[in-house]
Amino acid sequence: MPTPLPPDWSDRLAIDRAHVWHPFTQMQIHEADPPVPVVGAEGCDLLLANGERVLDGISSWWTCLHGHGHPRLVSALERQAARLDHAMFAGFTHEPALELVARLRPKLPPNLTRAFFSDDGSTAVEVALKMAFQAQLQRGEQGRDRFGALRGGYHGDTLGAVGVGELENFLTGLFSPLLLACDRLEVPEDPRREIQADLTGWPARLELARRNMQGFFAEKGERLAAFIAEPLIQCAGGMRMWPPELLQELRVQCDQHGVYLILDEVATGFGRTGTFLACEQAGVAPDLLCLSKGLTGGTLPLSMTWATEAIYGHFWGTPASGRAFLHGHSYTANPTACAVAAASLALFDDEPVLANAQALAAAMREAFTSLASHPAVRQARSLGTLGACRLVDPATGKTHAPEARFGWRLHRLALDHGLLVRPIGDCLYLMPPLSTPPERIREAAEELVHLLNN
Ligand SMILES: Cc1ncc(COP(=O)(O)O)c(C=O)c1O
Repeated sequence: MPTPLPPDWSDRLAIDRAHVWHPFTQMQIHEADPPVPVVGAEGCDLLLANGERVLDGISSWWTCLHGHGHPRLVSALERQAARLDHAMFAGFTHEPALELVARLRPKLPPNLTRAFFSDDGSTAVEVALKMAFQAQLQRGEQGRDRFGALRGGYHGDTLGAVGVGELENFLTGLFSPLLLACDRLEVPEDPRREIQADLTGWPARLELARRNMQGFFAEKGERLAAFIAEPLIQCAGGMRMWPPELLQELRVQCDQHGVYLILDEVATGFGRTGTFLACEQAGVAPDLLCLSKGLTGGTLPLSMTWATEAIYGHFWGTPASGRAFLHGHSYTANPTACAVAAASLALFDDEPVLANAQALAAAMREAFTSLASHPAVRQARSLGTLGACRLVDPATGKTHAPEARFGWRLHRLALDHGLLVRPIGDCLYLMPPLSTPPERIREAAEELVHLLNN
């Protein structure tokens, strides 16, 4: 049984029920099951209004890196907000943006030299799509009015981003009359990431996927402005881990067909996969890179789209040339968010953040190894600090029917046992802050086994 809420929360929840519309939610569920009030956060834990402490097993939607309320991020926020909270970025510049750029640039592939700021992952993707299309036009490629993307990808919820995403739900289907023209390519999951890997026939399947990719570009390449992909893990698509060899082939094909490669590291960036960027593991550098979520360590919204000098060059001209990139947001390069992001990057330099992530990755592998043989679990796998598996009904070995809302029930039950997980469909995963002590992951795995047993 959940611990009851203090009485003063009943009035506040009445306001929520009367006036608030929550994201990704069929609001009817909150009639019987109101949203969980959260009143604080410390390190890798969220503190709930009922006095419970829960491990933030999904880094508050994959944002939190160094733990909640890290003193260096909090003091950067306070200092900057008091000095210059916000100023417009068109025609102005400021120290926090420049410090952030100076700290981040050396951590990125060297070909990415130009940073454009926006507010969240979706807008970082919008910027990349618009930049790619306009750059193609301005370098004289008139017929490139389509995009390429991976099947089952997710790049955000604005219409441009939805147009290049593809999840088997309304996100793509319902809005299809409004979306960009997009050609989709399927890549296989990489069985080498699985704990109980069956590699029978894998080299042949990998080769087939490579030839399929070559065929896709031979047929569609000349119409594509850019191809967008989440490197190595399609996160919202159900933590689909795909082979680095195919990311390398994607780079080759984009080069051969004059297509810009956009890598969306909104979820995979900042150490989640064990390296600073996931694309490093394939030795691939994109033409456009989207970053957000962990950019500020999970404290404030901010995003960046990094471009090559060649792309930047296609926008260069006199004011009358009409070549400028006419895009921006009220809060572009918000100084407070930039200062926090710079402080988060300083932590990567001053503390063993990536070494801690490696230790966390080892604990994650162990945790999913202990889950792998559970009868309710299939396809347990991990990559870096991210572990995932498929949940099935142990009686039938099949996925639970959607109407059973098994994932949601597990989410609510786990909260009563000190753990925040939020399965995506049948995919149960952990993606905790990089600073999470490895023993907390062992405990989380034990708790999950216990919950799945009951
Ligand atoms: C890979 C990827 N791109 C883009 C986005 C959109 O980011 P935001 O929710 O900040 O708009 C997400 C969000 O989960 C994501 O996982």
